[in-house]
Amino acid sequence: MTKNQKNKIAIVGAGYVGLITGACFAEWGNEVICIDKDKDKIEKLKKGISPIYEPGLAEILQKNIRQGRLFFGQDLGQAVKKSEIIFICVGTPSARGGKVDISFIKEAAQEIARNMAISKIIVTKSTVPLGTARNLVAKIISETWKGSFELASNPEFLREGTAVFDFLNPDRVVIGTDSQNVKRILLNLYQKVKCPKIITTPENAEMIKYAANAFLAMKVSFINEIANLCEGVKADVKEIVRGIGLDKRIGSQFFKAGLGWGGSCFPKDVKGFYQLSKDNGYNFRLLRATIEVNNEQKKRIIEKIKNLFPGQKLGNKTIGVLGLAFKGNTDDIRESPAIEITKKLQKLGANIKVYDPKAMPNAQKALPKIKFAKTPYEVAEDADLLVIATEWEEFKKLNWKKIKNLLKKPIIVDGRNLLNPIKMKKLGFYYIGVGRNI
Ligand code: UDX
Repeated sequence: MTKNQKNKIAIVGAGYVGLITGACFAEWGNEVICIDKDKDKIEKLKKGISPIYEPGLAEILQKNIRQGRLFFGQDLGQAVKKSEIIFICVGTPSARGGKVDISFIKEAAQEIARNMAISKIIVTKSTVPLGTARNLVAKIISETWKGSFELASNPEFLREGTAVFDFLNPDRVVIGTDSQNVKRILLNLYQKVKCPKIITTPENAEMIKYAANAFLAMKVSFINEIANLCEGVKADVKEIVRGIGLDKRIGSQFFKAGLGWGGSCFPKDVKGFYQLSKDNGYNFRLLRATIEVNNEQKKRIIEKIKNLFPGQKLGNKTIGVLGLAFKGNTDDIRESPAIEITKKLQKLGANIKVYDPKAMPNAQKALPKIKFAKTPYEVAEDADLLVIATEWEEFKKLNWKKIKNLLKKPIIVDGRNLLNPIKMKKLGFYYIGVGRNI
């Protein structure tokens, strides 16, 4: 294969990772077909409609469909036949007891094997238990296909909300393979990105992904613990982050204290990694603590709210919740702390009104019997307090003077430390953040 050669690529699973990967590979000039079982999703995608809210995605989908490089379908067999490289991007959800459910990976490998006629490169991009590429995928394929094939693990580190940017501008690319041929082809595929490329074994690549997510989740749990301590000793977590973050060994990113981590990856991956460690005879204590702290963080905010009304039940209170997505800039509500908190408050009898710029359609099912407001102002109207549960930038720019006048009591519980406490206090709010003592 010469430099700059374009590849024919099949992507199995058009979820977050698969869709972004497929669209971006097409953007680099490759011919890509994304396969998914979900018929509605595929029909939408064929028309260039993105099934998820992700900045920049619709544009590259439409451009590459128009230019004849990006296709969508349901027939994995056809896609396998036409492609040289097959990326497995199916979900690996949590199974019972926190184990990783790899049934979709197995199904994908079986289907690929049934449709092999010549040698292919099969790459796992989904987050998978250690040894999946070499032991599971390879074994399944060789049970059916007796010819040759090659394997790699190429984990993905993109974040929702900035997924297209992250894919096109990664900090590193990790390629786990034993094959010189695969190494050459995948390096060629990623030649457009200017970042270190780590060539390693499939097992190391699989472990890198889990270790990265575990460390990031631990960083958030760490700063949440510092924030909780700040509340007791009258220190301000934002000042602590400023002070420690300048130490290059520590860094200031991923140090936002708040309601804890959620989303489609951290909760399942951290639990999965903990379970994997246990299954391998290792008790990963830091991971257990990371999970415990995260669970506690959501309970703390409920306690803070209850303490605002000592001796009273929340039954006759109206609580406005701003934000439902698991973080800002996404419509994803999977494992969202905002949803969990809203449900708890509802259970305690409070009358709840919610608003989110993008996540309300996804949240309708998760939150029955809750009033979805059309604007943040409608949420504030006659509420006894306002909770900020997701860090949407647009909440910062609201007319807070107007909100103060709309609220029954000017109380803000800022679960994401989104607002400036000094400004809020000047406006006359009673402001409670996470680890803020100003
Ligand atoms: C994460 C990883 O960052 C990414 O590399 C991996 O591929 C998938 O999982 P994502 O789930 O999109 O990405 O979100 P991320 O931005 O990492 O945030 C995860 C959670 O941590 C969110 O709930 C977020 O609100 C929370 N978080 C993040 C904090 O509470 N504080 C922070 O400082 C950063």
